[in-house]
Amino acid sequence: DFFPVILAGGSGERFWPLSRKHRPKQFLILDGTERSLLQQTAERLVTLSGSYERLYVVTSNEYRSLVLEQLPELPLENLLVEPVARDTAPAVLYAAQQVAREHPDAVMGVFPSDHRIADESTFRDVIEAAIEAAVARGGLVTLGITPSYPATGYGYILRGAPLEGTLPTFRVERFTEKPDAATAQAFVDSGLYSWNSGMFVWTLQGILEEFRRHQPALHAAMEATGGVRARIREIFPTLEKISIDYAILEKSDRVEVIPAEFGWDDLGDWNALERLLGGSGQNVEVGRHLGLDTEGAILYTVGGDGLIATIGLEDVVVVRANDVTLVVRKDRTQDIKKVVQQLKAHP
Ligand code: GDD
Ligand code: MG
Repeated sequence: DFFPVILAGGSGERFWPLSRKHRPKQFLILDGTERSLLQQTAERLVTLSGSYERLYVVTSNEYRSLVLEQLPELPLENLLVEPVARDTAPAVLYAAQQVAREHPDAVMGVFPSDHRIADESTFRDVIEAAIEAAVARGGLVTLGITPSYPATGYGYILRGAPLEGTLPTFRVERFTEKPDAATAQAFVDSGLYSWNSGMFVWTLQGILEEFRRHQPALHAAMEATGGVRARIREIFPTLEKISIDYAILEKSDRVEVIPAEFGWDDLGDWNALERLLGGSGQNVEVGRHLGLDTEGAILYTVGGDGLIATIGLEDVVVVRANDVTLVVRKDRTQDIKKVVQQLKAHP
């Protein structure tokens, strides 16, 4: 049996002013359709799990009601709530232990809530191959993406010896989370690395064993709760804040990778809208825009019946979200975080 788990507790800031602390990226509709990224993720996974009964969502307390509102089909007991965010390792362990109580021999998938996947049928084939690989060897199966630039915000996977599998599968020699710029450049130049997509497939027994081995304190603290949710809520704030990548994937020697091409995009910042919605060179418009001699711009308006008018602009992003307007050069969108920081310091 396959149990997908969606991690939906992050508090992304790079889509400010659309994302706010009370509504981070996974709950947003970015593509002008009617479904948020979380809703699209859940729909994609339910075609693999067969039903919402087997889908789990882990989120922190402040987003509990947003998840319930957006996923009304999710059984209440499949929503795992962290009282405070402790990053992804505690969230994954929480889900693994809960599912293992009734289905100790199941296969678990871990999925970010805020990515886009263009080619869903290839995605399903890859996940099915990953499930087979996980069952065959009990390893931790990652999905590797071919790097297109020396990103520093991703994990890098060094492919090793080939393994048996329905799709090409490799042992992982080394997993390096978020390298510095020079290291990332060297990794990309070598041609031997994949990006970590942030999606994982493993048997419950396999991942629980790796937690016991590499994060004994975390594992023991969670075991001591007996899986009782009230007790988990009590100990959660005492847990170390650490991501699954640093906690397990960098340390384990049982990691495998299936290189995968299914139109993956982690929608890292506003520029992603161009890949999502439009051809380059043209303007990308969500909401009303009237442009004179404006080219290569991203224009996004929500809340009310707003209009953006531009004259003679190139390579800018303009976002009008309710009472906030953002105008930023396309090559500076990474700095939106700094604006958010300043606003936090001086609201
Ligand atoms: N429940 C819960 N609790 N979910 C969380 C928490 C938490 O404390 N923190 C983050 N998440 C969710 C986010 O909402 C997102 O869907 C997912 O977990 C991944 O977290 P990110 O914070 O977005 O991770 P990242 O982008 O820095 O890095 C990860 O993804 C990259 C690919 O996008 C790593 O796995 C990298 O290795 C990978 O390359
Ligand atoms: Mg991310």
